[in-house]
Amino acid sequence: MRIDIITVLPELLKSPFEASILKRAITANMVEIHFHNLRDYATDNYKSIDDTQFGGGAGMVMMVEPIHKCISNLKSQRNYDEVIYMTPDGETLNQGIANQISIKENIIILCGHYKGVDQRVRDHLITREISIGDFVLSGGELAAAVLCDAVIRLIPGVLGNETSALTDSFQDNLLAPPIYTKPREYNGWKVPELLFSGNLPKIEEWREEQAYKRTKERRPDLLED
Ligand code: ADE
Repeated sequence: MRIDIITVLPELLKSPFEASILKRAITANMVEIHFHNLRDYATDNYKSIDDTQFGGGAGMVMMVEPIHKCISNLKSQRNYDEVIYMTPDGETLNQGIANQISIKENIIILCGHYKGVDQRVRDHLITREISIGDFVLSGGELAAAVLCDAVIRLIPGVLGNETSALTDSFQDNLLAPPIYTKPREYNGWKVPELLFSGNLPKIEEWREEQAYKRTKERRPDLLED
């Protein structure tokens, strides 16, 4: 998978890709990440990428031309499955969307800034708009990092233990059950006895019950789907 990220703040975005699972996925060539500084596509001497709103109103708007030039330049080199715009008014990211995107070959992610982008970008260049939740960030960069993390860990082979993504919360519309590790007892707080029984079918049954109970308590909406 190849991900091209268009941003005015490439520096803000780099560190999440320099550690842990994302770094390993990049080093193992399972994913390629390319950053594109939108200012490199500015058309004036001041490297402007935004301007005031037509019709008045507070806040700057990202201009269509630098974004169009950047996306066209990328599209002239390869085909893209999706051009995603990170925006608080997009569809809310969930595990299902992450699964869908994880099987794409090439995607572009555009990070918004200021008030957002000229509507013509959304009408003519973007294929999918994604939000990471009902709150407004200062820019789309952190949202893009969240999307990339959720997607990259699902690419087959990225997680060491193939089953671990399959047992994540949300993967089957259930939250994950409680998990424990050593020591068996700490401060008088005990691990459920059943987990030491060696009875794997019983343990599996217990985990399913716990996952269901937790989902019912915390996210009953997931059970309605
Ligand atoms: N840009 C600003 N806020 C955002 C959000 N909640 N999700 C995606 N992109 C954003």
